[in-house]
Amino acid sequence: MNFNELFKQITPEQISESVFALVGRIFPVVTAGRDGNYNSMVASGGGMGVLFKKPVAWCVFPKKRYTLELIKKEQVYTLSYFPDEYREQFMFLGTKSGRESNKMQEVELGAIKTPLRNMSFEEARLIIECKLMLISTPDADGFYSKEAKEYVSEIYKDPGEIREYVFGEMTNVWEKISN
Ligand SMILES: Cc1cc2nc3c(=O)[nH]c(=O)nc-3n(C[C@H](O)[C@H](O)[C@H](O)COP(=O)(O)O)c2cc1C
Repeated sequence: MNFNELFKQITPEQISESVFALVGRIFPVVTAGRDGNYNSMVASGGGMGVLFKKPVAWCVFPKKRYTLELIKKEQVYTLSYFPDEYREQFMFLGTKSGRESNKMQEVELGAIKTPLRNMSFEEARLIIECKLMLISTPDADGFYSKEAKEYVSEIYKDPGEIREYVFGEMTNVWEKISN
């Protein structure tokens, strides 16, 4: 089946689930790159909201993250959310890096291209296409709460672990057509 037979477009406002569930429990798969050279990973930190009057989603990545490299290169990416029955399959994408493995060939999910030629998966139930808007990299002294300070004082010892906060404008939101 082609993309338009599987998914229908909805507006960001029509995303009916709690953002806390989507981000913190269901987890998005972030996919960047183009057919032939794309990569996916599981994310958990982040959120959704409004910035520069646009609907945005934001994620957090260490500087060295391979998927982040592809986001910066193409400046577009997708967030895909799956039914729980595919949890084992999509969580596999969070177990090893695509920089030094063939995980995109090994993953037991079917690749699909959106009309904008961004990569996602047939089994997804919600796909958010994003256009890179801004990347912010706070210094260690930009963290204030006790938890945040403790977190960065440990991880910022490795420069590759410095966190980049990545905001993308939601350009299209797609929901699986239910049969
Ligand atoms: C539940 C879960 C949540 C994760 N959340 C994040 C996250 O928010 N940001 C991040 O950079 N990595 C996160 N990871 C780790 C990446 O998914 C993992 O390191 C992945 O292999 C990176 O893929 P890549 O090197 O091919 O880009 C998470 C992993 C899991 C299993």
